[in-house]
Amino acid sequence: MKEYNRILVTAALPYANGPIHIGHLAGCYIPADIYTRYERARKKDILFVGGSDEHGVPITIRAMKEGISPQEVVDKYHALIKESFEKMKISFDIYSRTSNPVHHKTASDFFKTLYDEQIFEEKETEQYYDEKAKTFLADRYITGTCPICGNPNAFGDQCERCGSSLSPEQLINPRSTLSDAVPVKRKTRHWYFPLQKYEIFLKEWILEGHKEWKNNVYGQCKSWLDSGLQSRAMTRDSNWGIKVPLPDAEGKVLYVWFDAPIGYISATKELTPRWADYWCQTDTKLVHFIGKDNIVFHCIIFPAMLKAHGHFVLPDNVPANEFLNIEGEKVSTSRNWAVWVDEYIRDFPGCEDVLRYVLCANAPETKDNDFTWKDFQDRNNSELVSILGNFVNRTFVLIHKLCVGKVPVWHEAAMDKTDVELVRQIRETKAAVEGLLDQYKFRDALFAIIDLARKGNKYLQDKEPWKKTGKETTTSENRELIDNCLYLCLQLTANLAILINPFLPITAKKMLHMMKVVDRILEWENAGKTDLLKSGYRLRAPELLFRKIEDTEIQIQMEKLHRNSIKPNNSEPAAAPVSPAEKKPEIQYEDFAKLDLRTGIITQAEKVPKADKLVKLEVDLGYEKRTIVSGIALHFDPAAIIGKQVILVANLAPRKMKGIESNGMILMAEDENGKLIFIAPDEKINPGSNVS
Ligand code: 2FM
Ligand code: ZN
Repeated sequence: MKEYNRILVTAALPYANGPIHIGHLAGCYIPADIYTRYERARKKDILFVGGSDEHGVPITIRAMKEGISPQEVVDKYHALIKESFEKMKISFDIYSRTSNPVHHKTASDFFKTLYDEQIFEEKETEQYYDEKAKTFLADRYITGTCPICGNPNAFGDQCERCGSSLSPEQLINPRSTLSDAVPVKRKTRHWYFPLQKYEIFLKEWILEGHKEWKNNVYGQCKSWLDSGLQSRAMTRDSNWGIKVPLPDAEGKVLYVWFDAPIGYISATKELTPRWADYWCQTDTKLVHFIGKDNIVFHCIIFPAMLKAHGHFVLPDNVPANEFLNIEGEKVSTSRNWAVWVDEYIRDFPGCEDVLRYVLCANAPETKDNDFTWKDFQDRNNSELVSILGNFVNRTFVLIHKLCVGKVPVWHEAAMDKTDVELVRQIRETKAAVEGLLDQYKFRDALFAIIDLARKGNKYLQDKEPWKKTGKETTTSENRELIDNCLYLCLQLTANLAILINPFLPITAKKMLHMMKVVDRILEWENAGKTDLLKSGYRLRAPELLFRKIEDTEIQIQMEKLHRNSIKPNNSEPAAAPVSPAEKKPEIQYEDFAKLDLRTGIITQAEKVPKADKLVKLEVDLGYEKRTIVSGIALHFDPAAIIGKQVILVANLAPRKMKGIESNGMILMAEDENGKLIFIAPDEKINPGSNVS
């Protein structure tokens, strides 16, 4: 393993277009913070940088929705996000913003360097233009019908119903979201970064050099690299963003995904004059914490940009998490299906660590995971309260009762097998937690610590010091047992404080306060030691580390979630069938007659790898066989639909999905619950028959 002398941790810059929700925290901020706190406790030279991403379409769309300027949007949400991070104890060394002048300059200079090195390809292409609004349209500003699932409100970059990535050209009946005009194609000139020229480097660097990356990250990189890279436009037509620093580039700004990751460099510059040590010395360990939707940008595009620039280090690891669902459903900010961090902080004051705990215990480290309010309550009540809180509380109560509130004396000669075993478990847990954190396995590390507290409870239960006291029972032997037992429980408490500190910093502080020890005790090298608290000094009175969370509190949250969410089957057209109120415009018979509708039979069906929703079908049309990719994987078991009669649009232009060319579309109906049903002839009929 490579030796590093300093560590630079980054966490994805959230768009300042709304508050953050718990999916954001679980995805990257909590793991990044745990990692940073752990390395700080190990006295590593480490910086943790972050900030708000204040450019790009997400900001201008929000401005449009709220009827305010983009600047007002970013000012409002940057402040809100920053405050949420502070309250959740996400310990950035700097939380900056990409509207800062230092960032504009850094990103501009970066672009200029690549331009001067003649890295970019300048290309003129046709893009959608809104003649009413007099502006080019970013993909997200175009809506239309999804060619895969028929969702009438798919976006030009993605269909939120079936999850397919789209390009605006694929949309049926595209419209501008700005003016509802039918967009037209217009020529425009942009600067493209030739990713394909970095393919060999990236393959060697990632596929050969970073086999230790998490499977989800490595797998996504491999699939991008295997399907071949293409040039990507690094500029956009917009008036919101960093101006392209070239003389003939009026109305052009840097693409948000060009400038945002450079934000990590700018934030470091803003933080310290030593910024170049972190960014340019090869003995820096750069770690990007992100969510899975950012993998390609951090593992492929940004590293290729850094490589092209030539002066910067590349990430040593990109431990991306998958997504956190809520109550079994995907988080949707547009449907308000989310738990907002600022609201949580208001509703559960003093319970910030509980949320950190639950989000780490349920972190989507290897697959999407689910947050439920019931699980939140259970983890709090039966893990934090009943295991960790209970152990610490019992220790303190017993010390005040049986040892006049002072750290007892240790009687070496009276040490028994149970004591030896507990000491061993403390040391073993320290080593295990280190091994796990070094591999970014935060959940398992947390469970190992809770397990140690559980062992503490068992130890107390086995020793029963409360039974060894009383007039007749307090022999000198019993006195030694009481002292040793509570001495060790106290040392275990100190160890638990050190180990839990990266995860639950507020709780660790409370424990220090009760033990009346200074912060320095939290240094990682102290973990595993069992002489941290010296005999004879008086401890503070016990205070509860966690409180029980009541059923009513959970009910309130559940009701709030459902009450405030926009149901997919009424107000959220993106995921809903077309309701009578949303009839499509009238068409002429000639429009309908253009459709070549045919009957077919599904002869093969298999899930498309690495695409949650897609199934690859082979459909027999009698006169030919068709491959069709359909977004139905969440609704049907592929094996169960082989042999089914279907109706398909046979003359739909082919399009590629996940590298597979799809030739046609199967007709489906969707009921009010979102269940899909095949539209099929109700009698057997030859495949390829006309439907009209
Ligand atoms: O996905 C997002 O929310 C982006 N704003 C993340 C940017 S991360 C980095 F590149 F700045
Ligand atoms: Zn779709």
